Amino acid sequence: MSVTIKTPEEIEKMRVAGRLAAEVLEMIEPHVKPGATTDELDSICHNYIVNEQEAVPAPLNYHGFPKSICTSVNHQVCHGIPGNRRLKNGDIINIDITVIKEGFHGDTSKMFYVGKPTIAGRRVCEISHDALWVGINLVRPGIQLGDIGSAIQQYVESHHANVVREYCGHGIGRGFHEEPQVLHYGTPGTGLVLKPGMTFTIEPMVNAGRAAVKTLADDWTVVTRDHSLSAQWEHTLLVTEDGHEVLTLRREEQETNALGAA
Ligand code: MF3
Ligand code: CO
Ligand code: CO
Repeated sequence: MSVTIKTPEEIEKMRVAGRLAAEVLEMIEPHVKPGATTDELDSICHNYIVNEQEAVPAPLNYHGFPKSICTSVNHQVCHGIPGNRRLKNGDIINIDITVIKEGFHGDTSKMFYVGKPTIAGRRVCEISHDALWVGINLVRPGIQLGDIGSAIQQYVESHHANVVREYCGHGIGRGFHEEPQVLHYGTPGTGLVLKPGMTFTIEPMVNAGRAAVKTLADDWTVVTRDHSLSAQWEHTLLVTEDGHEVLTLRREEQETNALGAA
């Protein structure tokens, strides 16, 4: 399968799936507080997706993933499995939501502060947030994926943090992970040239320390090798005739359009 150009009908379904994924992140926000377990967050999201949205949580059983959402806390980079761990004041947590509605996927994640963030926690969350928006703001027909990856990498490294190399953004549509791979590092003037109708994610994982990661014995949870904090934000995007549409935009983002906004 090569990179697909979505039809107007498919784009409309991507908009619906994207909006539903964003709404799950909005719904779960008040539940992310000290004392909550990640399993509780998983079951609240699962029930909301299945019963209220009448949609499908894409992670559940995806290549054997056992839960409906990914929850990655502190030095966990991505693909954390919800469990009986209790969140505590000062933790940072990424919640990654992917829903399928009428055959199409919407994929988005954000960082939450549990109680009052530490300075180091706030810092890595802000760098990865702004790195995502540096990438998003470049998306338009004619630009190349290497331009986006390079800009994200430069932004992160100029803030003395590091981009994880092993995981990347991805095309998305009927498939959860379609072509192309969207690297968060790279060389300007290289890679796929974007065209209207392409849909893909950008989802930089940023480590406060070194870039190296490893996977735990559960075969899923990815952590920083040096145990430094890690943060990630993700949106699903559509390339339009004159720029882009963020298909997973949340209400809190609608006026500020992000970069530098609190
Ligand atoms: N949502 C992740 C992504 O952004 C993928 C999670 S795969 C899972 O691509 F199996 F861990 F759920
Ligand atoms: Co993704
Ligand atoms: Co995701």
